[in-house]
Amino acid sequence: MTSSPSDREKVVSKLPAALWQPLKVRTAQLGIALQDAVAEGLSAWRNLGANLQTVDTAGADTFSTWLPQGLWDGFRADATARGVSGIQGLAQSVQLWLDSNPAPSVERPTIVRRKIICNQKGGVGKTTIAAGLAEAYAEDSEKLYPVRHMKQMSENNLEAEIQELVGLGWRVLVVDFDPQCHLTKQFGQEIIPRNADSLAKHMIGEGKGDIRDLVMPVAEGVFGGRLSLLPGCRDAFLIDLGLARARAREAALERALAPLEEDFDCIIIDCPPTLGLSMDTAIYYGRRREGERPGASGIGIVVLAEDSSADAYELLVEQIEDARRDLRIDIDYLGLIVNQYDGRRGYIATSSLEEWKAIKDPRVVAVIPDRAQQREAVRMKEPLLSYEPACEQAMNIRALAREIA
Ligand SMILES: Nc1ncnc2c1ncn2[C@@H]1O[C@H](COP(=O)(O)OP(=O)(O)O)[C@@H](O)[C@H]1O
Ligand SMILES: [Mg+2]
Repeated sequence: MTSSPSDREKVVSKLPAALWQPLKVRTAQLGIALQDAVAEGLSAWRNLGANLQTVDTAGADTFSTWLPQGLWDGFRADATARGVSGIQGLAQSVQLWLDSNPAPSVERPTIVRRKIICNQKGGVGKTTIAAGLAEAYAEDSEKLYPVRHMKQMSENNLEAEIQELVGLGWRVLVVDFDPQCHLTKQFGQEIIPRNADSLAKHMIGEGKGDIRDLVMPVAEGVFGGRLSLLPGCRDAFLIDLGLARARAREAALERALAPLEEDFDCIIIDCPPTLGLSMDTAIYYGRRREGERPGASGIGIVVLAEDSSADAYELLVEQIEDARRDLRIDIDYLGLIVNQYDGRRGYIATSSLEEWKAIKDPRVVAVIPDRAQQREAVRMKEPLLSYEPACEQAMNIRALAREIA
């Protein structure tokens, strides 16, 4: 069946929201055009050997779609012959299509995806991006969300395009790996007391309990229990000291988090603003494992469009390249994320963005503008994607999440 309007006719009828909404979601989940789903439903309905149970059509709203020529007339004739109204028949047809095309289940990776969000420079937006990605990945796979993609129309013309896409439905753990614990505070959670069990203690071999007991859900009402946080502890700055003489110390983070991996589809590490040993453990954790798809895990570097970011970037890349060589591991870059971009700052911002783009490998995967909603959400200690789910910033973060999924 083609979708060209020429061999289709526009049909206007009524459909209750209780069917219209699931129809939109299900067709988006399955990547099927809505008009094709309706056409399939109507054809299946016409082929039925007996009438279906009556569907509640109270409060049905105007609904229009494009159907292959003749299908609607044929359906109407059949409905009349069966003593069913057009609106009732359409509702039954949509229900029939929904029943025969169940929602796909969320794909669970065999190897947990590990996204390492880093830069030793503070204040660039690591925590903001790590939190935003975690929220975006954890959104409901049974709901539609606006996603703002930038489309290259021509060499100098980028245009924003907003699409309604279903949430990804991943089970996500975001790890506060910074002794300043900003992520934990941003989510309105308590930081772990210095004398209690913590990630750092598990990394240096002084963990007492089960690390799974440290994990807590974030905004369960919004993310349906799919978003979890491993809260930070001030003792994280002792990791470097504690690991100084440890064996295979680069694997310390991996060893500590291993018991958690099977509970999640994705683990995001919000790195500290340092280049010490703890950063090495994060780089190591983000390496490509045997059998893993390139780019499923890796390192995302958050930068600003300003000159001081460039020096920090060089030092970080040096450390990553050293790890790659010395430890003989494959490390994928997820890309450069240019954050807090404000083109109105003029030449410094625009020329610096051009320089980031000129690096090409890793490439710039997102330019996230400077937006007040972002600061407001932090102030309110709420996840941005639940604080203002339809704001431009939330839509940008969803696009980034999909770009580096
Ligand atoms: N895109 C943005 N728009 C507006 N404010 C932002 C944006 N990204 C980050 N911020 C703000 O900048 C500050 C530093 O961000 P943060 O994520 O804590 O950086 P880092 O983790 O690199 O130290 C925070 O107050 C945060 O709310
Ligand atoms: Mg931070």
